[in-house]
Amino acid sequence: MELPEPLELPEPLVLHTPRLTLRPYTSGDLAAVHRFASDPRLTEFVEWGPNTLQDSRDFLAACLAEEATVPRTAYTFALTLKEGGPPFGSAGLTLDPAVLDPENPGSTAPDGPSRTAETGYVIAAEHWNRGYATEAAAAVVHFGFTVLGLDRISATCRPGNLASARVLEKTGMVLRRRLPAHKLIRGAWEDSLLYSMARPALR
Ligand SMILES: CC(C)(COP(=O)(O)OP(=O)(O)OC[C@H]1O[C@@H](n2cnc3c(N)ncnc32)[C@H](O)[C@@H]1OP(=O)(O)O)[C@@H](O)C(=O)NCCC(=O)NCCS
Repeated sequence: MELPEPLELPEPLVLHTPRLTLRPYTSGDLAAVHRFASDPRLTEFVEWGPNTLQDSRDFLAACLAEEATVPRTAYTFALTLKEGGPPFGSAGLTLDPAVLDPENPGSTAPDGPSRTAETGYVIAAEHWNRGYATEAAAAVVHFGFTVLGLDRISATCRPGNLASARVLEKTGMVLRRRLPAHKLIRGAWEDSLLYSMARPALR
């Protein structure tokens, strides 16, 4: 089987959708990140937050460190409107360690280890229900399959997070199973729904 070419990331690493720009975080994004990440409406179904200012600083520092890590283990994009302005959300991919395994350079062989990643996203509450998460998730998934050469992308959401489940369905993810007591969220073990999709046949 022919293996994909070695990974060459576009520089700067920016993704474009009809209405959004997905770009790397910069150190100047602290106020914007803290504005949405400290909002309890946004953190109801996730294991972090609502952020203190130090939490937001730590998040941004982790994003900047991730951008400098070779090879990359994760990609977290800041979401802005196409016309500019501060970030009002994030979308990204966290790579499964097997992706970084030099013995596993992109095989899609049925008996080989698959190259997988998990996706996630958040959108500031004042921008909900305008299709932004779906647009961002679709761009990140496309990036994962076409640029990173992933075989499969997964995501989890809490069963009560109907908006997130809908975003995953609209992105083409399929519900696989329920994971009992999967995430510790503010002291309680919560179930998750596991979604995933395989790399579509690409032309
Ligand atoms: C989940 C989240 C990212 C969705 O962002 P968004 O930009 O509003 O998503 P979209 O507009 O692309 O799509 C939302 C869909 O959910 C639907 N929806 C929203 N609230 C809903 C609810 N309570 N019940 C059922 N469907 C709901 C919308 O109608 C829309 O579907 P439609 O296009 O078929 O009408 C956003 O709510 C968020 O950031 N939540 C907090 C963080 C989070 O939960 N992240 C995901 C972790 S798993």
